[in-house]
Amino acid sequence: MYVLALVTQKGGSGKSTLAAGLAVAAMAHGERVALVEADAQGTISKWKERRENPYPRVECIDDPAEIESMISRLRAEGIWLTIIDTAATTNNLAMNAIGRADLCLIPARPSPADIEAAIPTLIAIRRLNRRFAFILNQTPTRGGRLSEAATSLNSLGVLALPFVGQRNDHQDALGAGLGVTEFSPQGKASEEMVALWGWISEHLLADSRDYGQAALKTAS
Ligand SMILES: Nc1ncnc2c1ncn2[C@@H]1O[C@H](COP(=O)(O)OP(=O)(O)O)[C@@H](O)[C@H]1O
Ligand SMILES: [Mg+2]
Repeated sequence: MYVLALVTQKGGSGKSTLAAGLAVAAMAHGERVALVEADAQGTISKWKERRENPYPRVECIDDPAEIESMISRLRAEGIWLTIIDTAATTNNLAMNAIGRADLCLIPARPSPADIEAAIPTLIAIRRLNRRFAFILNQTPTRGGRLSEAATSLNSLGVLALPFVGQRNDHQDALGAGLGVTEFSPQGKASEEMVALWGWISEHLLADSRDYGQAALKTAS
């Protein structure tokens, strides 16, 4: 089982929107996906209440000590991907989610404030020696000062592709209890989410191949 954690102490950067969008995109080929809500704000559980499809399953957690047992349980139940949506803080729950993630995803809007606010999260991720990628979210769909933000993030670490544009479909999908790929399958927002999931899954698989090689080298 792979574990993704959406993390950054900046509120409104798109953690919950991307967690739901990616979970649904990842289910497209019948994969078993779980969404873990580690945020008292409840964006994911409210989304789930509006949702008719019973999948992905949603689990809520508020005790940092329970992350480990929840992950073990999901793995034992045959879940292939767990996506943890965290709160806009560097609290213990978010730290434990980072500590258990195969890949931490740090969404940031293309503004200096969002990028600066990601730094404490980045420091925590580095301290815990986890892999991570930034996601540039809510980018202007026309013109804009993207290259500056992309350059800043690239200088701090890996930047996932593509950028996720500012599009109403994301807000409407969240409101309808849908993933953006379900809400408007032919739309640009859906296209970007599918491509983003493709980028993330390739990195998860490549990383596990790297781990495999490392294990072989250690064993030989
Ligand atoms: N790419 C996007 N395009 C349009 N609206 C977005 C996008 N990403 C997030 N939003 C909206 O921005 C707001 C904050 O996003 P949210 O996912 O709740 O952030 P966080 O979980 O990091 O606090 C929500 O209203 C959400 O629908
Ligand atoms: Mg949220």
